[in-house]
Amino acid sequence: MSDLLGMSFLRALSNASRRMERDDSEAGIDDALTALVGAADVLAAGPGEAILSVVGDAFYLGRKLLANASTEFDGMLSDLKAQKIDSITLSRGATRSDLTDLAALLAGTSDQLPAEGTVRLNERGLRPSDLEIRPLHELRRSYSFSLDTLRDVSRGGSLHLDGVAEAVDEFIDGGAADPSSSMLLATVQNHDEITYYHSVNVCLLSMALGRFAGLGREQLRMLGMGALLHDVGRVVVDEAALRNPGRLSNEDWAQVRLHPQEGASTILAASGTGQEIAAIMALEHHARIDGGGYPDLGGRAPHLFSRVVAIADAYDAITSFRPYRPARTPNEALRVLLEGAGTAFDPDLLRLFIQMTGEYPPGSLLVISDGRVVMVTDSSDGPRRGVVVRSADGEVLGRPEPVELTGIEVLSQLMADEAGVDPGSVLESMEHGESVER
Ligand SMILES: [Fe+2]
Repeated sequence: MSDLLGMSFLRALSNASRRMERDDSEAGIDDALTALVGAADVLAAGPGEAILSVVGDAFYLGRKLLANASTEFDGMLSDLKAQKIDSITLSRGATRSDLTDLAALLAGTSDQLPAEGTVRLNERGLRPSDLEIRPLHELRRSYSFSLDTLRDVSRGGSLHLDGVAEAVDEFIDGGAADPSSSMLLATVQNHDEITYYHSVNVCLLSMALGRFAGLGREQLRMLGMGALLHDVGRVVVDEAALRNPGRLSNEDWAQVRLHPQEGASTILAASGTGQEIAAIMALEHHARIDGGGYPDLGGRAPHLFSRVVAIADAYDAITSFRPYRPARTPNEALRVLLEGAGTAFDPDLLRLFIQMTGEYPPGSLLVISDGRVVMVTDSSDGPRRGVVVRSADGEVLGRPEPVELTGIEVLSQLMADEAGVDPGSVLESMEHGESVER
């Protein structure tokens, strides 16, 4: 909800300043200012003050990313930067005079700062280090909740799809729409409860891709549910075969190949709504688009959501440690996926996935030109933001320092054990950094 209010305020502000800039009619400017006062009123009606910040190329309301705002208000982003404004604090009942000054400042038609104190500039902007805290904190909570949901099923509890829907809703509300946070969390969570962690990771990655592809909330929820349950057949059957460090026996392998059907029937037998698509996804997630894989779909193409899960499934499997093989870097995982473009994986979805993750997906550990090691936390359009986890002289930092990565040269990539860091605890210390009150 607050997203909508933030967006409508930005829209009204942009409209008013554009009209001033091109010296529109008095009535036109007047109408735009009236709309701006209205939008500010609604935005600041809640408890506390509303703080809009610009960090990098993104708008935040409080600490919440306003997704798409930077695309829609690209012009205003430049105006704000030109005026060196990185935050706007709106009090309840912001005055017309203050809002007019703000719009004129952005239009470049006046230097007058808002004087009545109801609109204040550069008062409490966010620092890059603040941004990772809240989304990840909430996502982590939802992560545990999802794990519990799966553990319940494996303990012989029956599968309740309403509980799964609730877990997925928590993800959506907790910031799973933001691809960087989802990817980061999914890439660094690795555990010996392989199937559970893998399932939650696949859910996060699938929803990030779904959101990136433009799915709405309802679709996203269905995608998330199916993704979380895609390996439920494995949870129900047997985790032991997976843990087996040696090669699978024929018998184990036959068992493993049955998990899609097993999963689909578990889901169809569950109570609650949303069975069909989730069952289809469980059944089809190992089917390739060239007709290979298992089970045989008789020439039918896998459902779009199954194709999303197939990509997320492979990405997470490759980047995670397994008893029978080491983990590989996120960048290597992308290369492996590309080898399967058009045969194992839907090439259009894969292109979107790579566009979303960038060349060095969140969670990547990179040695940069000055010898420091950074973990990427945001990678859309190339590595953009990260935290320094190891100094140039090899010291692992207790409190990771935020760093801008745009334009930085990458010398090499490391696996977590080569870097001597545990990405999970890096995330934790990021969350325990200082926070900004709204
Ligand atoms: Fe599977």
